[in-house]
Amino acid sequence: MLEINGLKVAVAGKVILEDINLVINDGEAHVLFGPNGSGKSTLLGAIAGFSRYQILDGEIIFKGVDITHKPVHERALLGVGLMFQRPPTIKGLSMRDMVRICAQGHEFPEELPQRLNFTDFMHREVNHGFSGGELKRSELLQLMAQDPDLVLLDEPESGVDIENIALIGESINQLLDRDGLNDKAVCPRRKREMRRKSGLVITHTGHILNYVYPDVGHVLFNGRLSCMGNPRELFGCIQKIGYGECVRCSQTCS
Ligand SMILES: Nc1ncnc2c1ncn2[C@@H]1O[C@H](COP(=O)(O)OP(=O)(O)OP(=O)(O)O)[C@@H](O)[C@H]1O
Ligand SMILES: [Mg+2]
Repeated sequence: MLEINGLKVAVAGKVILEDINLVINDGEAHVLFGPNGSGKSTLLGAIAGFSRYQILDGEIIFKGVDITHKPVHERALLGVGLMFQRPPTIKGLSMRDMVRICAQGHEFPEELPQRLNFTDFMHREVNHGFSGGELKRSELLQLMAQDPDLVLLDEPESGVDIENIALIGESINQLLDRDGLNDKAVCPRRKREMRRKSGLVITHTGHILNYVYPDVGHVLFNGRLSCMGNPRELFGCIQKIGYGECVRCSQTCS
């Protein structure tokens, strides 16, 4: 699904990411940990193709296509979808129209806003005056309408209350085609067949690990992918000894 080789990214002339190598296979969900300012949102933004992220070196291959220098709309049409950490407000555009735009070329279940407790927001301008948790549901709704093959989620659970977090978790599982994947009654071969979509999810709190059972975890530290392993073990390690120690020696935890 995604292959990143030797990626170097700068923002406003400052190098933020260096020598990023990452492979996400079809049907895999990866999780990205890292301290504030380490470059996590920069990585997702560079994959999505926002022009503020200057690619200085390396390549991004998506479904076999070199998208390194493709504009953001072409990447979206190819199947890259992003949930922003801090989504912009779009005045003059209603959520209803935005969701219709996102759904272009996809079958859009009419009951989706209802499932996300979002029917009362459909007449409002995109993200205008939305609370933190409402912003996340707005973003998820747009993504579900787009139905991308690669789902990039930047802190999907931040600011979400304890009741809505289950709703967000279930919706992400749906987005990733992972409904039922945590069900022990489903045999491993069937699970593999069920997986199609891939994801890269940023989390600080780790709450999302209780809903989405990701396959691989990475730690981004000082602009480099420094560590890779079992997501739950990595998260436990970070909680126990902090990012700095964790990337110095992940074996300290085992
Ligand atoms: N225009 C800019 N000029 C200089 N530095 C910038 C600019 N934009 C972003 N940066 C820096 O890039 C670094 C990486 O930012 P990024 O948003 O990717 O971090 P992050 O890992 O997502 O952090 P957080 O966990 O806080 O969301 C930060 O130190 C940020 O200040
Ligand atoms: Mg960020």
